[in-house]
Amino acid sequence: MRSIINEKNLNNKKILLRLDLNVPLEKDKITDTTRIDKILPTLNFLIKKKAKIIILSHVGRPKGKIVEELSLKPICEELQNKLKKKVKLISENIKKIKSKNFFSDYNEDIFILENIRFYSEEEQNDNKFAQMISNLGDIYINDAFSCSHRAHASIYKIPKFLPSFSGLQLDLEVNALNRITSEITRPITCIIGGSKISTKINVIKNLIPKFDNFIIVGGMANNFIEYFGNSVGKSIKEKNCDKIIEEITFLSKKEKCKLIYPEDVIVSKDVNGPPKKKELSEILSDEMILDIGPKTIDKITKIIDNSKTILWNGPAGYFENPNFAYGSIQIAKKIIENNKANKIFSVAGGGDTVSLLNNLNAVNEFNFVSTAGGAFLEYLEGKNLPGINALN
Ligand code: 3PG
Repeated sequence: MRSIINEKNLNNKKILLRLDLNVPLEKDKITDTTRIDKILPTLNFLIKKKAKIIILSHVGRPKGKIVEELSLKPICEELQNKLKKKVKLISENIKKIKSKNFFSDYNEDIFILENIRFYSEEEQNDNKFAQMISNLGDIYINDAFSCSHRAHASIYKIPKFLPSFSGLQLDLEVNALNRITSEITRPITCIIGGSKISTKINVIKNLIPKFDNFIIVGGMANNFIEYFGNSVGKSIKEKNCDKIIEEITFLSKKEKCKLIYPEDVIVSKDVNGPPKKKELSEILSDEMILDIGPKTIDKITKIIDNSKTILWNGPAGYFENPNFAYGSIQIAKKIIENNKANKIFSVAGGGDTVSLLNNLNAVNEFNFVSTAGGAFLEYLEGKNLPGINALN
């Protein structure tokens, strides 16, 4: 992997820069700018080197269709404000772009192409599509570690057509994660949340043998609560997960990795309703689980006290509403306390977890915080990520 940092001659070079600007958006407003802030050093480095920049990114999962709410417009505006430089959004269909040289047609030095996932060819890893985009630049840079587990055209295929480099943020993430895997000491605890168990199943299965405790929280835990015989009312859950849970349970026993899921919960009738503490057997059909309860918090904090390494991905509840953020905050506080006392090595990752830690002003209180979610877990699992492979 060659880093762009070592490239001397970037003067006037047209750079295709793949970033992960997949930031949380609420009605056109960015609710957490961490992913934008993190890539500013790369942009400033390229600007200083007098390179011409074409940014490629996705936001959300539009699945090959134009979805107006998933336009990069607010992100482009935020970039302009932060860089104090004009960034031009190219909204016309990439496949119909006649001019191959924006830079001589317009005055700007920085362009951003509209959401790359508006084109189905992106996720199909289409060769022609990648070749057509690669014609726009002289050099490709991947500074999107958090997307590097996706074998998509702008991550995996474009590097086949252009001299390709890693960006500054990608270098940072990969170096930090390499250090973590070599520094890890037992007992190791993984706290994993989020809603989609099926997208994390292989990661969970592959990580279980490496961990001593596996704590399942968040929406994903609802499937476990139901599987072990309790009703979860109208809580979010994924369908057809029994086989997955059976596999995870079997494996955790075999590998002597303790599997922990909530023992009590905080519910409400909807995400804006008042919080109510419940035992698992008390959840009514019109209630939804929105946080972990006090007994569960107690259990988790004790496990943290008995761990030397903590890996955390995914909040414990619907932390966007402060009524349901208590469980996640207690987990964060306990990790921070033990980190300050040098008792543990702590690593957190994932968009929501980073947002939560930002809200608590706690990003610097962890040994490492990755902006990546899925990519971070897959890398720790020991997998070769397509985006990194393509650079090698
Ligand atoms: C992320 O947020 O983890 C990356 O942007 C990848 O997004 P995806 O899970 O939709 O591929």
